Order: sequence, then C-alpha cells, then structure tokens
Amino acid sequence: MKALVLSGGSGTRLRPFSYSMPKQLIPIANKPVLEHVLENIRDLGVTEVGVIVGGWAAEIAGVIGDGSRLGVRVTYIPQDRPLGLAHCVELARPFLGDEDFVMYLGDNMLPDGVEAIAEEFRTGRPAAQVVVHRVADPRAFGVVELGRDGAVRRLVEKPARPRSDLAMVGVYFFTARIHDAVAAIRPGARGELEITDAIQWLVDQGSAVRASEYRGYWKDTGRAEDVLECNRRLLAELGDRVVLGPGARVVRSVIEGPAIIGANTLIEDCHLGPDVSIGQDCVLRRTRLADSIVLDGATISEVPGLYGSMIGRSAVVMPADREKVQHRLLVGDHTRVELVA
Ligand code: DAU
Repeated sequence: MKALVLSGGSGTRLRPFSYSMPKQLIPIANKPVLEHVLENIRDLGVTEVGVIVGGWAAEIAGVIGDGSRLGVRVTYIPQDRPLGLAHCVELARPFLGDEDFVMYLGDNMLPDGVEAIAEEFRTGRPAAQVVVHRVADPRAFGVVELGRDGAVRRLVEKPARPRSDLAMVGVYFFTARIHDAVAAIRPGARGELEITDAIQWLVDQGSAVRASEYRGYWKDTGRAEDVLECNRRLLAELGDRVVLGPGARVVRSVIEGPAIIGANTLIEDCHLGPDVSIGQDCVLRRTRLADSIVLDGATISEVPGLYGSMIGRSAVVMPADREKVQHRLLVGDHTRVELVA
C-alpha cells in the first residue's frame, strides 16, 4: 500500500499565519501537523508517500525533506491550483500506479491512529473505505449515510441539512478502482473535483464502499481555536511534565506542566503553563502565559496575562513606551489583538 498526503490548498481560515506558512506546517506540541501525519502513515507500515504540494512546496520540502528522518520516502507532486481532492488523485496517478493507497489530508490530526481501520481495509479490500466520526454539527464536512447493512449509501459534501451525524474524516482507503471514478466525475458546486462525488460514483456503480468509525480524537486543524485545542490534547499525554529542548534555559521561573519548551529558548522571570508549546530560539521575560503556542524565534517581554494565544515566528510582544503612548501596534492583515483598555 502507498500513501497520498494532500498538502496543497490555501488555508485562509488560519490567517494571518497562512500568509507566511502553509497550515500543514503549523506546530502542535512543537511538531508540524504534517510530521504528525507522516508518522501516523509510517505506523501503518506504509513507507512510499506522495505529497501533493501547491505554492508552499519549497517551505514544505525544507521541513520534510526526503522523509527519511520520519521513516518514510517522500515524492513531491506539484499542484498548480487547488482544484479539489479528486484532482489530487488524478495528478498522483503515475506515482500510485495500480496499487492500493491511503489518502490522508495534511491538516487532519488523528493522534489515536488508524491502524485498526487500515487492517480492516487490507482484509476486505472494498473499492473505497472511508473513515467517519460522529459530530454534533457535521455541516462543515462531508457527510455519510449508511444503509442497514453498514454499507455507504450516500455521501454529501458540506450539506446544509445533514441526514446523519457521521462526518468524513480526512483519511480514505482506495483500490485502483477510484481512478475510474475520478475520470468519470465533473467539478461540483465549489468548482472543485470532489472526492465525495468520486466515491458516490463508486456507490452508484455498485462497487463496495465501506465506512469505519474512528472513535479517537480527531481535529481538522483549519482554525486557530482548533490548533490550540489539539495542542492541549497532545500535551495532555505528558501528564504534568515539562519537556525542555537542548540548550533551553529556565531562570527564576515557574512552569506548570504540561509544557514543551524548544531548543535554545530562554525563559526568565516567567510563570508559564499549563498547556504551552514554545518553539526554539524564543526569549520570554517577566511574562505570564498559559494555553498558548509560540512559534520559533518569538520574543515576549513583560506581558502579565497572556492565554489562548498563537504568536508567530520572530514576532515581538512587549510593553509600549509609557511616556509617549499607551499601545504601539504593527499588526498585519487578518491579525487578532485583544487589549484591556
Ligand atoms: O477534514 C475533513 C474534511 O476534509 C472532509 O469532511 C470533507 O469531506 C473534505 O472535502 C475535506 O474538506 P475541507 O473543506 O476541510 O478540505 P480542504 O479544502 O481544507 O482541503 C483538505 C486538505 O487537502 C488540506 O490540507 C489542503 C489539501 N488540498 C485541498 C485541495 C482542495 C490540496 O492539497 N489540494 C486541493 O486541491
């Protein structure tokens, strides 16, 4: 079995971060989402991975490289424009050949793994096996309706009135039959070649399409709130431990775990945690920070009450010169700043 990871697209819901980096490289518990994804794939025993990349190809290759560090072999497959999930399958056809494959969306976090579901696919080899998760409001996802026998009957992309609570998780298992489906469909309402339509085509042709329920933790890391929630979930595995990277220094500070502090970061006179992930080469002084992600190279000084925050790479957060002004802001597009007046 091969793997196809989708890491193109635009990620506008993660602005302003997505102006300067692809959402798949946002760190959660100090590791880019895409690395979590590739490790999950390796845990399925799959090592040949095609990665679809768009405009951020160079940045992604700069972090992931040939994948050997993560135990996989990566082949990059460029996509000029995000024309849809099924378009990615079409582009990857030469890489995939006629092999079975798992398609994994590069922004989906499933820390509890999908080994059991992969095993089910390997045994039964239906034309398609989708992964579903019960959610209270599935309108932002593909939604699956099952027949009495548990077979998939209907799949609808982001329905206004969902007919079940089974959202499609961004992990799909396919045999080569999917290529016939992708060739047969046309772009849908949002102008994209939808994988849901391709799978529906298989259902309509009478091919076997199964759904497996994933009962673990799942997050599509589309928005900052999702990233922070997922960060808390991954850090929870540390219990109340604090993990310090090589060269990190903690001076006259209290750190409540769980927390991760990256390499060569300096923490001085601070009270941090719980639930903070701080990247490498950061400097934090006289600051109180909880439930937050700080990216590499950021500086935070004398901020007494920060929480629920994401601070971008090499950003500076510090007090203004009180003699002259109350606040001084250099704030980029689509940034969010919450101040106490
Ligand atoms: O997260 C699960 C959902 O993912 C499913 O429930 C939906 O059925 C499925 O269509 C998908 O919906 P999204 O609207 O969240 O997909 P998004 O456009 O965010 O793309 C998902 C990933 O695929 C993301 O990492 C970007 C990448 N991508 C997307 C498109 C459209 C590509 O690499 N190329 C593309 O053309």
